Formats: sequence, C-alpha cells, structure tokens
Amino acid sequence: MADRTGLNGRDEPSRGDDDHAELLSELDSHDLAFALDVVDASDRNVFAADPDAHPDAVFPQSVASGGPTPSGVILWTRLEPEAFDSDEPLGVQVATDDTFEDVVFEGVVTESDRIRSHDYTVKVDLDGQLRSDTEYAYRFVYRGVASRTGHCQTLPRPDDSPESVSFAVVTCQDFLNGYYPAFHYIAEEDVDFVVHLGDFVYESDAGEFKGLGSYDYAEREKSLPSGFDHVHDLTDYRYLYRTYRRDRFLQEALESHTLVAGWDDHEMVDDVYWDDETDAPRGEHPRTDDPEFMTELVADAMHAWWEFMPARVEYDPAGDSLQDRFRLWRDLEFGDLVDLVMTDERLFRDPPREAIPTVDNVGPHREPPGRSMLGDEQREWLLETVTDSDATWTVWADEVLTMPLRLGSGPLSLYPVQGGWDGYTRERQRIAEHIAQADVDNFVTVTGDMHCYIAGYQQTSYPGRVTGGEGVAQGERFGVEFMTPAITSVNVAEALHLTRGKRKQITEPLLSWLIPKMNPHIDFFDSHNWGYSTLTFERDECRFVAYAVDKTENSPDADREVMVAYRVPEGVVNLDEITDQYRQ
Ligand SMILES: [Fe+2]
Repeated sequence: MADRTGLNGRDEPSRGDDDHAELLSELDSHDLAFALDVVDASDRNVFAADPDAHPDAVFPQSVASGGPTPSGVILWTRLEPEAFDSDEPLGVQVATDDTFEDVVFEGVVTESDRIRSHDYTVKVDLDGQLRSDTEYAYRFVYRGVASRTGHCQTLPRPDDSPESVSFAVVTCQDFLNGYYPAFHYIAEEDVDFVVHLGDFVYESDAGEFKGLGSYDYAEREKSLPSGFDHVHDLTDYRYLYRTYRRDRFLQEALESHTLVAGWDDHEMVDDVYWDDETDAPRGEHPRTDDPEFMTELVADAMHAWWEFMPARVEYDPAGDSLQDRFRLWRDLEFGDLVDLVMTDERLFRDPPREAIPTVDNVGPHREPPGRSMLGDEQREWLLETVTDSDATWTVWADEVLTMPLRLGSGPLSLYPVQGGWDGYTRERQRIAEHIAQADVDNFVTVTGDMHCYIAGYQQTSYPGRVTGGEGVAQGERFGVEFMTPAITSVNVAEALHLTRGKRKQITEPLLSWLIPKMNPHIDFFDSHNWGYSTLTFERDECRFVAYAVDKTENSPDADREVMVAYRVPEGVVNLDEITDQYRQ
C-alpha cells in the first residue's frame, strides 16, 4: 500500500464521521479540556459485578491513572465498542482497600455520546475528591462487569515534607521490536509514580525502526487502518494506542502506578519539528511537504494522545496554532522534597541543522543565532520554574540527551546526537549558565530517546573543543543526568548486530569504556540492553537504579539484572556508584 503515500490529494485517506473537525463542531473546548462528569448513582445496582465475568471483554485496555494532584487523579478506561450500550451508565469506585469495603468515592458516567465520540475512552477527573499523599484502589463497573482493580496515588500537598518520593522512569517502547516484561517488573516495583519520557507509540509500520540485529516478534504484528506504512489520521493513531494498550504487562504497570506522561516525536511523527516558514510541523513522513496535511496529522496525534493518556494537560482545540492547543510543559510538586519539571521538546523546536556535526560546526558560537528547542516562552518558564524551586531536589524530565556526546577525539570528533541538545547548543548553554548562576541545588535531569543508559555530569563547559562552551577547562558541574534505556526500541548495538554472542562480549565492554573516555563528563554508558530505571528521592540522597530486562521473552520470568546504580548525596554534585549494593 506504500504507493498511496505519494498522493497529494487532501481527500486520501477518507476521514471518518468522528474525525477531528467533526468532533470540534460537536464539542466545545471545555468538553475536550476536561474529563467526563461523574454524577451520583440513582441505582446502586450499577456497582454490582458478576465475580466470574472477565474484564477484558468489556475493558480491553484495562485501566490507568494519571495527572496526580494533592486531592485527586484522573482515572482512565476504555469500553469495548461491542459491549457498549448508550443507555447503560458506567460506574466508577475508589476505595482505601482492594475489596472495596471502604469506598470513598463513587459515581456514574452517563455521557454516552462523548464516550462514543472519543473512541470509547473514558477519563474521570477526581481532583478535589481524594486525600493527599494517599494510595487508593479503584475500578470501573459496566453492565455487571468490573474492570481490573487499579491503584492510584495522590501527590503530597505543596507544604508537606514527605520522607521519600520514587519514580519508575520509562521511554521508547516500540511494539514491533520486543516484548514488555520490563513493565511487569515495573508493576512490582514499590514506586509512587511512573514517569514516561515519550515514544509511547511508534507511528510507522514500515520497519525503519529495526536494525541488522533485530528479531521479528510473534504476536506483535500491526497494520494501520489507513493501509499506509506511516500513520495518516486520527483512526491510525487511535489504533496504535489501542494495540499497545492491549499488552498485559503494560496494563499491569499502568494499573499499579499513577502515570506522569510526557511525549517525544513518535507520538506524532519521527523527528518532528516546527517549520517557521510554513508555520507547520514537519518530520520523517511521506507527506512532510504538505503543511496542511501535517498540521492536521499532528492535531490528530494530539487528539489521540489526549484520549488515551490520563494526563493533566490542557487541550484547547480552539488555539490559533497547534502550539497553542496543547501545553505539555508543566511542573509537579511532591511536597517540599521534589519539583518535577516537564518540557515539550518537539512542538517548538527549530529544524535540524544540515551541517555535518563536527567540532567546526557544533557549539554555541558555531550555530546560527536564535536556534531553540523549547521556544522562547517555554524556555523562560523552564528557567523561572527551576530557579524558583524551593524543593530539596529539582528534577527536569527532559525528553532528549542534554549533555554533549562526542565520538572520536580532537578535530576528528563527531557529535552524532543532533536530535538532542548537541543540535541546540546555544540554548543549552543559556539554560546551563542560568541554572549554575542561580545556584540551583540538587539538580537532576532525566532523559530518554537515545535507547541507551547514561549517567553523567551537566556542566557549564566541557573539556576540549566541545559543545556547550568554548572553555577548555572542566566546566562547573551544576547537576547530574540519568538517561533511562528504551523498553524495546532499537539501540546502536542492535542496529549493528552486536547484541548477541561473542560480538556482544567484545563490543559491550568496549563501547562502555570508550564513550566515557571520549566524554569525561559521562561516568556510565551502555547501549547493549533494554529496560527501565527507578529514581528515589530522600532528604539526604537520590538513588538511580537502572535495570536490563530481556525483551525477547514475553514472560513474567524474563531475565532482569541491575545494570548500574548511583547515589547522589544531597548538597553535592557527585555520582557515587553503588551498583554492588543492588546486585546482592
Ligand atoms: Fe525512541
């Protein structure tokens, strides 16, 4: 079907009755910006469930929670269209116990037109209903069938002083390139929240995100409804989310923990950026030269993301531009212990540079002026939010690699990660200097996108003729960066067929030695594994633990090992490796 991708006509593929424009005429922006209303049940039988009924027949994507506040969360589910009856109310219950004896909130959703018009997804916002810093059980009940029981967690109040806050951090979960046992382990982790740094879905079936060493995975096939290799409309994006969310391990993780979701490029289009000349998004897509198509496509991407992610993100479809519609950037306060600042690094970014990324081209003074990844408004917000933070730990959830990554040495160096901040070094420098000058204590950056493990120092300059400053001296260290690995997406070693047997035995230690040698600010690097990480913040330290999980086994017993663990003491920018403590 790939030959259809060359069509210029705006009518291909045909857009269905429930497409974006249709929805906008049906619903005002308030309807889309908030969750469904919950009303009191007139008949308590709504909550009666047959204990033998299987939840999958009615709730095929199970349940999830997200968007935590000190007084609530957003609860999410999706109804099976075949089971849907517009006259039937959907019950929702929240309790302090898994048996639902102590129910603290319950109600029904009756807005069946809105459920149907959002691909049968349901979001219920409980902000204002629950107690702070508390874990609850919740479930939906529909036509006598109960969903699986989920667990959600509210935030502490801003003036609370929690002893500890912990996250599982995940990114890059290409469904075609592996199984999700990592999510099974995450479900079992004793963490408070899951932070997703993006690439929750991948927008192409064309096989371009595979490498020489990639396997085919049974039962991972998918085929976009439009018939194209690349996503073309809202129906395609919804199909992707429905397909990914059928995975039981992913469901387990989202049932067990409350999600704080960001996005990266693949939720929209590979390497998406904003083209100021056409005032439209562009990226790796067969229709990238058609600004009208790309605008509508990214609107569809946002629409599906909003439907399937329980995120507290305002969506205003009346915004003049796509950039005004969706404000992904936001911050969350976990009492006075952690401020988590999330940024959108795709919708505002300038185009990639065409120059070969050598030392002569990469760096603040070798970059055209005015380049930005965040856009002016978001960058100023980031700087203000970070420097105003009173929390013990200030955490930047940054989608892409922040620090320089050099291959080679001296004039023969390359900076290949141009999609990360090495492609936006003027703005990186500005952010780095601002944070360093403001003396932001305990600054921790978590990144993804690169499908590898990295632990290193953020500096205002780096040794050698390197990006981030002209200085040749070791720059001032102002924070640490932890890159979490991909759940499944192809990494460098897999792309080069180096992940198995002797090739792995030789190249894994070699690369892990070579990268820190070439980049003294990097303490740990691995690009041969997949998995997730956990971050725990306490008063006197932060701990990062990164795991490798065998993505080739679709099993809860898939091998898992600790790749590396670090401790960062409060008040000192220092990476203290403690892997042995976690390997016992
Ligand atoms: Fe990715």
